[in-house]
Amino acid sequence: MTTSLEMDAASLFLFLHRAALSPIIGFALIAFAVLFFFPGGLSWALSKPHGRSSIPGPPGVAVSAFSGPSAHRELLTLSRSFKATDLMAFSVGFTRFVVSSHPNTAKEILYSSAFADRPVKESAYELLFHRAMGFAPFGDYWRNLRRISSAYLFSPRRIASLGEQRRAIGNKMVSDVRALMKNHGEAEMRRVLHFASLNNVMMSVFGKSYDDLGDGEASELEWLVKEGYALLGAFNWSDHFPFLRWLDLQGVRRRCRRLVKRVNVFVGRLIEQHRDKKTNGKEMDDAGDFVDVLLGLEAEEKLADADMVAVLWEMIFRGTDTVAILLEWALARMVLHPDIQSKARQEIDSVVGSRPVSDADVGSLPYLQFIIKESLRMHPPGPLLSWARLATRDVHVGSHLVPAGTTAMVNMWAIAHDESLWPDPHEFRPERFAEEDVSVLGSDLRLAPFGAGRRVCPGKAMGLASAHLWLALLLQNFDFFPAPRGVDLSECLKMSLEMQKPLTCMAGLWVRLMLMLAALSMLAKPSYRMLISAGNGLMVKLITSASDDSPLEIPVGGLMSQYSFSESLSSLKGGCSDVWNGNPKQH
Ligand code: HEM
Repeated sequence: MTTSLEMDAASLFLFLHRAALSPIIGFALIAFAVLFFFPGGLSWALSKPHGRSSIPGPPGVAVSAFSGPSAHRELLTLSRSFKATDLMAFSVGFTRFVVSSHPNTAKEILYSSAFADRPVKESAYELLFHRAMGFAPFGDYWRNLRRISSAYLFSPRRIASLGEQRRAIGNKMVSDVRALMKNHGEAEMRRVLHFASLNNVMMSVFGKSYDDLGDGEASELEWLVKEGYALLGAFNWSDHFPFLRWLDLQGVRRRCRRLVKRVNVFVGRLIEQHRDKKTNGKEMDDAGDFVDVLLGLEAEEKLADADMVAVLWEMIFRGTDTVAILLEWALARMVLHPDIQSKARQEIDSVVGSRPVSDADVGSLPYLQFIIKESLRMHPPGPLLSWARLATRDVHVGSHLVPAGTTAMVNMWAIAHDESLWPDPHEFRPERFAEEDVSVLGSDLRLAPFGAGRRVCPGKAMGLASAHLWLALLLQNFDFFPAPRGVDLSECLKMSLEMQKPLTCMAGLWVRLMLMLAALSMLAKPSYRMLISAGNGLMVKLITSASDDSPLEIPVGGLMSQYSFSESLSSLKGGCSDVWNGNPKQH
């Protein structure tokens, strides 16, 4: 690779020579070309000489990798073509990057104290996130926030105590899907999942939930969150070309400032309501929310109001879309793989029976857990682990020297799709986790969708508890089928890795019934008529036009709840061969 780059620089020199440009312009152009053709690109060429190590990578300013909808895929392609999957250097404008697509170097980065900081992009700074846990520099302030939230928001006891709340939100989600099916004949899942997830975080953090996103405070919240995602997820040129910053070409700073004002009013009001409650004598108990906890902090742990707003606001951000997006992908997979869907439902039916599933059941539902793991593997909400790390000092990764100030990323999507680590990596196969138990919590870097090391996601147990319970509740209540326009698995990487086209599906046992009746009528010989009776369970009678003497009675309801659609049909066909046509009946 280096050779071809050297050739490019040499041919440019020849060209300049022939063009007989003035020596100064020629020198400037050559210097520019050399900078541009340097492995890793412009920012690496400009780094201190000892930092110009031999990390392979594309020359130039690989802006396109980040401005498209699938940076994780583009970076993998580049890493492979430069034979740099363990570590690749690249530049985005003047920002120096390395990216690891290998578990060994990923582990070194994520666990190293040299990478315990995060780079703060302009939008995060403007939105005051540098005062929140996710972007706060590694140090006492960050440690304090981490300690408080681990003890009061993310502790196993706290998560268990919120089980009933999670279930109530899950039940509301089920009734929302039912209402959508009734009114529209299909359900667009994204809004339902997002609303459930938002309500869950709002309940845990602020002790508040909403019935509907339709109006008033809820619709203000929805707007604030949506605008925040758009700003944090957007590619901002000023982050990488500092001389553009004052121009605010994309209006990011202006929009951030407008948003921060509204967030301060919104979150500030909720904090005041909690203060009033406290001064009115309603003391915080174990079920108090996170705002109560923050207000109760004493001495050096105490947070200023502005910091409290940042901390609380960040929780809404981090906790909402990750869980909703994970579930949307998992449901898309259920729709596309009815056999896996029906296996999961059978597991739920046999372990839980007809009572509603609860948190306590999840431990006995291994297949359900495999589905969530496989969804995290194939569709990690943060394919580049959401927000990167920053080298605070010169540090070695593998045999390479990474200079201080370099932004380091882990391409978890690439690792989770590496065929040397995962057999048939592009196949959705939850069973792989029955063959080999792989933890998703950060100890095994083949699959670390929540990151690892000091800055591993503190909300992972909360996120998983919600994802497991809500998927189980949805599968217990509905059969999911594709809507007429099908399922499109195209991805779009914004702040998280979303489905480009929101998942719309048909849900409900009656959908299965309709499909089964349609199939029966297609498969039965033309001489048979079909009668449906609901007296002793749902029955279909197939009667010859000649005589009603010996109808074939099929217990459709029983078949539907026990078997998958295809199993039901084949068991029916096996039951009485003279009723069935070789070919589907023409209507
Ligand atoms: C499926 C769900 C989730 C996924 C996939 C996810 C993923 C991640 C990832 C990849 C990181 C970066 C880790 C690293 O740098 O090593 C992170 C950090 C973080 N997550 Fe999550 N997350 C999820 C749910 C949540 C929830 C529910 C919350 C809180 C309500 C949360 C709060 C945070 C915070 C505060 C950080 C920053 C931690 C720090 O920098 O110290 N996450 N998450």
